[in-house]
Amino acid sequence: MDSIWIQGGKRLDGDIQISGAKNSALTLLPCALLTEEPLTLGNLPRLADVDSFGHLLNELGVSTKVAGARRGNASRKMTLTADDIASTVAPYDMVRKMRASILVLGPMLARMGEATVSLPGGCAIGDRPIDLHLRALEALGAEIEIAAGFVKATAPKGRISGGDYSFPVVSVGATENALMAAVLATGRSQLFNAAREPEIVDLCNLLVGMGAGIDGIGSSHLIIDGVEALHGCSYDVMPDRIEVGSYACAAGITGGSINLIGARPEEMLATTNALVQAGLAIEFTGAGIRVTADRPPKPVSVSTQPYPGFATDMQAQLMAMLCVAEGQSFLEETIFENRYMHVPELRRMGAEIEVHGRSAIVQGPRQLTGAQVMATDLRASMSLVLAGLAAEGETEVLRVYHLDRGYERLEDKLSAVGATIERRSGS
Ligand code: UD1
Repeated sequence: MDSIWIQGGKRLDGDIQISGAKNSALTLLPCALLTEEPLTLGNLPRLADVDSFGHLLNELGVSTKVAGARRGNASRKMTLTADDIASTVAPYDMVRKMRASILVLGPMLARMGEATVSLPGGCAIGDRPIDLHLRALEALGAEIEIAAGFVKATAPKGRISGGDYSFPVVSVGATENALMAAVLATGRSQLFNAAREPEIVDLCNLLVGMGAGIDGIGSSHLIIDGVEALHGCSYDVMPDRIEVGSYACAAGITGGSINLIGARPEEMLATTNALVQAGLAIEFTGAGIRVTADRPPKPVSVSTQPYPGFATDMQAQLMAMLCVAEGQSFLEETIFENRYMHVPELRRMGAEIEVHGRSAIVQGPRQLTGAQVMATDLRASMSLVLAGLAAEGETEVLRVYHLDRGYERLEDKLSAVGATIERRSGS
């Protein structure tokens, strides 16, 4: 299995081009199911999860045509055509590999009047149930049955009616599924306490481009007027704000200066605020942001929250940076119950971190030292890469497939700004 090898201690300096957002791509791709006309998505990141989603859609009968080199800087474009949906069943082996497969449930139900998707089960960062997806679809008029490890959603009269649903907990995925179902309902739907993440705004903008009627975009109250049919369109995936934040932490932990081209600062103010509190300089350049660390980071206190709060997907990377900060930092994880899996590995690299339930205390500064490490999820793996960049000696991050799910050409991007990093193929 491949690993990422890093010789730490280099100051990073230079430009990094930000890729299209993984989490946005994973909710825009299933929109192809909503129309029989071709949907073309540009700025798609070259990531294992995007490929897996493409394969899942292929299994349902959606044809996919990709333009753009497999490697290199050119972004990728995919044209998806769902003129003939051959199957309405998303099987276990696809859903097991990628939880986001659950996002075919809403659009397939809306278009076909029925959808069957394997239940995803738990994952490394927590239990992650789908009850809110199901309750929201029920409120929109679907009948839900669970049997033999599958969930089957049916629209009693062939099309769902639409309806109102108030989310008891903010859920990105459940908001996305409900939105993708509501756009083809026979009537009006209202979603209260909907997630407001920029990826949801990206989804709404695509749906409007396809002919959907959505009001309240960017707010927690979405009003959707269902339409008879949607049409195809061309749309570019938004830049990945988590990738931006991750490389900003790379500048912070190495005392470097990185120009993050394509970053949209207005979509990640909680992250930039935390970085500014940590003493990093953030310049808005017009083309993106430049993040500069002239001195070791200062400690900060951050609690993860739904957008516009500090993203749970940035917690592990910020924690890695805070290991070298001058003082004690406090982190609180409020979204997922098991998202400190990187802590034991960071400790093996010399970090001093105490975890009490959902809170973590990071005592800095500590000189990190290289080690062989592995993590069980994507962002945790990135936190180990960041620690490796600052560590004395060599670090080898195993289980690279986690990183390949969410960071496009990680080793190329980091070497281009001066890191000594390479992918090594193992047995
Ligand atoms: C998405 C992102 C993920 C990010 C997360 C929170 C994608 C592909 N993934 O995941 O990277 O970390 O948002 O920003 O976009 N919950 C329930 N019942 C449900 C659904 C969720 O209890 O039916 C709970 C979850 O366990 C969690 C919280 O709600 O505690 C938020 O989860 P949610 O926003 O749904 O995360 P995802 O959409 O799975």
